[in-house]
Amino acid sequence: MALTDTPHGGRATDADPLDAAAIAADFPLLGTTSHGRRLVYLDSAATSQKPTAVLDAMDRYYRTINANVHRGVYDIAEQATSAMEAARAKVGRFIGARSTSEVVFTKNATEACNLVVQSWGRANLAEGDVVVLSLMEHHADIVPWHILAAEKGLELRWIGVTDDGHLDLSNLDQLLDGAKALGVTAMSNVLGTITPVADLCAAAHAAGAVTLIDACQYVPHNVTDVAAWDADFVAFSGHKMCGPTGIGVLWGREELLDAMPPFLGGGEMIRDVRTDGFTVNDLPWKFEAGTPPIAEIIGIGAAVDYLEGLGMDAVRAHEVELTTYAMDVLGQRFGDRLTIHGPADPAERGGVLSLAFADLHPHDVAQVLDEHAVCVRAGHHCAKPLMRHLGVSATARASVYVYNTPADIDALADALDATAEFFMV
Ligand code: ALA
Repeated sequence: MALTDTPHGGRATDADPLDAAAIAADFPLLGTTSHGRRLVYLDSAATSQKPTAVLDAMDRYYRTINANVHRGVYDIAEQATSAMEAARAKVGRFIGARSTSEVVFTKNATEACNLVVQSWGRANLAEGDVVVLSLMEHHADIVPWHILAAEKGLELRWIGVTDDGHLDLSNLDQLLDGAKALGVTAMSNVLGTITPVADLCAAAHAAGAVTLIDACQYVPHNVTDVAAWDADFVAFSGHKMCGPTGIGVLWGREELLDAMPPFLGGGEMIRDVRTDGFTVNDLPWKFEAGTPPIAEIIGIGAAVDYLEGLGMDAVRAHEVELTTYAMDVLGQRFGDRLTIHGPADPAERGGVLSLAFADLHPHDVAQVLDEHAVCVRAGHHCAKPLMRHLGVSATARASVYVYNTPADIDALADALDATAEFFMV
């Protein structure tokens, strides 16, 4: 199905900041307490909270039209199929896809990356071929390539990271020389860095390389236009954008997807099966073996509706404002005791604040914050090459979304004060 509607909804050009306090009321979990205090959720880079609209859409599917899709001819089965395919069209419009054939549903973004590597990579790469990755990559865009590299004898080259938290593109042409693929994040889950995806795709294409963009952190927080990027593959997940877990998306250029062999085999992905072989289904179902996560697909569709209702420009504007506030408040309150990794300019980054606090271990910081009901993630954030580059084993990472307010940042700062007092730093 061709997608011609204007993406991003009615408030797409409204760059006014959001009314985050009102938005928080849409998220039932944000009205709860932890350790007897108001829950302050600052871990949306790991997973976002879910609004009632998404919970209701999934509940409605199970309660009113629960049936398998693309199989039954009875009324509720057809309604379930329509609901699922309508969600695919919404997701496609949301990211600027031209057609629903380009929108493949997967279990998560990790599976989307593995699909590209195992299907496109296995079919198109041979011994000695070069794949370029960046040190900012999440393990999901590293380990699948390592697996294929070990099997096929590929060479992996690495784009470095500058001291100010950007990709070091000074030797990009050299790295891309002779490369067949480039895998790169659109926004770092550790540094928040927004990378120049369109430029990277142009450089990769000039060198003859295909691009895989990890847009997990980007799509939930920005207007996304895969056509403007001129990317080849884009992976992201539902659960970071107000949708459920268990659903990811691989957007792919149709001619590439069409030429690729299937990834997983089974029902749904076939046109015919005989004792001597099989033929594959049309796109996108060729890559969707087995019963799909129907409720989750309906859930990600509802999440797109919800975000479009807010307006993605407004989502981005809110995050720049809140990130600016957080960097100012934390900088003033803690001075040299606190390092925020990544770009200093909030306009160049998303609302992901990886913190190093005095000489405290990030897990100790996160544990004291938890006692104050402030939820952050401590660890390597599935980005160990980047951790090694930064010279740390872990960070304590606070990350904001549409429902966070300056009061949440103040709560983080107060809890960090309590941490400093507890550890006497
Ligand atoms: N990739 C997710 C994170 O950065 C889980 O926390």
